[in-house]
Amino acid sequence: MVREVLIYPDPALKQKSKPVAKVDDQVKKLVKDMVDTLYAEEGVGLAAVQVGVSRRVLITDTSSKQEGERLRVFINPELVSAEGRTKYQEGCLSLPGEAEEIERFARVTVRALDEKGQPFEIDADGLLAIALQHEMDHLDGVLFVDRLSSVKRGLIRKRMLKVIEEKKAALRARKPAEPRAGL
Ligand code: NI
Repeated sequence: MVREVLIYPDPALKQKSKPVAKVDDQVKKLVKDMVDTLYAEEGVGLAAVQVGVSRRVLITDTSSKQEGERLRVFINPELVSAEGRTKYQEGCLSLPGEAEEIERFARVTVRALDEKGQPFEIDADGLLAIALQHEMDHLDGVLFVDRLSSVKRGLIRKRMLKVIEEKKAALRARKPAEPRAGL
């Protein structure tokens, strides 16, 4: 089931997500809904908090831009190590239409549980490394706008309030909202 993606500055996006205690049927259903939502929105990554569930779950699928990649599920992800610096023009499903160059680690090692509750560790580079850092930020209530100047953030905030108003108006008129791409 496709869930509604919260748009910045929804206060729920500022919450620090809580760890998953057990990968049970409820968590599996959440992951399935997140996958449906990621593909419906044509994103490359999604954190549970973006669909209003404040739990430490994120998914990535960077295969459209990174050869050999696939859908990946990270539950209670932890950054084990990181090195190098890189810049990338990032988008976000919670910031439709916005993109800004953000500097992050070029390579990361992340430890997590998979969708079956099995622990694994992955060395990531390229877009996957960026997406993982972006989505892990979401789990701590941080969006890429929080890494910009307050002036830029203020302008984006204004545009997003307009997007939220337009979405509400479209819902009232029962027209589907435009699909948007992002992380
Ligand atoms: Ni995002």
